[in-house]
Amino acid sequence: MPLTERPLPGLGERPFGIYVHVPFCSVRCGYCDFNTYTADELGEGATRASYADTAILEIEQAGRRLTGAPAVDTVFFGGGTPTQLPSADLVRILDAIRRTFGLADDVEVTTEANPDSVTPESLTTLREGGFTRISFGVQSAVPHVLATLDRTHDPAGVPQAVRWAREAGFEQLSVDLIYGTPGESMADWRASVDQAIALAPDHISAYALIVEDGTAFARKVRRGEVVMPDDDETADKYLLADELFSAAGLGWYELSNWAHDEAAQCRHNVLYWRSDNWLGIGPGAHSHVEGERWWNVKHPVAYAQRLAAGESPRHDGETIDAATARVERIMLETRLRTGLGLDSLGTSARAAVPGVVARGLATREGDRLVLTRSGRLLADAVVRELVE
Ligand SMILES: C[S@@+](CC[C@H](N)C(=O)[O-])C[C@H]1O[C@@H](n2cnc3c(N)ncnc32)[C@H](O)[C@@H]1O
Ligand code: SF4
Repeated sequence: MPLTERPLPGLGERPFGIYVHVPFCSVRCGYCDFNTYTADELGEGATRASYADTAILEIEQAGRRLTGAPAVDTVFFGGGTPTQLPSADLVRILDAIRRTFGLADDVEVTTEANPDSVTPESLTTLREGGFTRISFGVQSAVPHVLATLDRTHDPAGVPQAVRWAREAGFEQLSVDLIYGTPGESMADWRASVDQAIALAPDHISAYALIVEDGTAFARKVRRGEVVMPDDDETADKYLLADELFSAAGLGWYELSNWAHDEAAQCRHNVLYWRSDNWLGIGPGAHSHVEGERWWNVKHPVAYAQRLAAGESPRHDGETIDAATARVERIMLETRLRTGLGLDSLGTSARAAVPGVVARGLATREGDRLVLTRSGRLLADAVVRELVE
């Protein structure tokens, strides 16, 4: 019997989160390969107007199947651009989650937002409807960098969007940045970091730009129209950001994430990194519950058709065996400031630890292995040593 059709007695012992995927964007950024569509790319059958009702059908279906689910600790609306939908629709989806599963008293409810996709009214509706946290996709403060990334917002409008969010009552506010865009100088990156800090968010994410196969951006790189920076320059940008964020009171708690204090961390992402339990709602969304993983059909039209017919939107799934779970734990926990627990490592991983420590890439803090600053730059190599 598939997992989604039987009760889950294990559920309830670990934090439980819900991810809601909203697959719409006003423009597709050339570098992005997330499951998202512009208005022209989606025909009848999966309109923005019908999306909330479709997602609610899936929530109600999941509620009938995931019996024994505890109150939800974290909800994360991501995309795509969730704020492409009317705020009232996002609140209706959250209401359905509350009705179906219940929300913990201290629930964290985040939405991602592009700075040019919010208004004072839309933000107030979200806050009053139960959203507690907003994550703005700022990426850069520099117009030519934003243009290379195909971002549509005017950087001058970002402080206003942040002010509106604060006025609407959002105390938890995050800024997303990207570094390593072709043509971005060190001074450009510094300006972006400075602007992000000046916005006084309690959380910042900064990710190196990844060239994803199959994107318009990857084609430009292949044709030589844009040139990716070398690894040393990208590493210098990471170090600069880490230095300036730390000086501003934002400490790293995951390789690419900094927060004012523990309360400002994104609990939903921490839940992923600790392999806790979550349900993914929406086309292509992934779920993970007690060692079982499954994912939905990717296309919004197929997703909507399944739900309209009363069928499960699940596409496929897998059971995570113990060896895979061990490797995944090493990959995820090594990236955390709290480090990798050494007690449950296998013999070969244990054997690799002294070498990693001797080379100054990590230190032992009690029974945990924590990356040093230079270790953070080589995190992938450290993980490879530990899993080999
Ligand atoms: C998929 S977006 C969704 C939220 C919103 N639409 C936005 O762009 O901010 C979430 C984050 O992923 C980042 N992202 C997408 N593709 C990326 C890539 N190839 N390399 C690095 N970051 C990427 C975006 O820049 C954004 O900060
Ligand atoms: S980065 Fe964000 S705005 Fe750009 S296409 Fe991806 S999801 Fe949409």
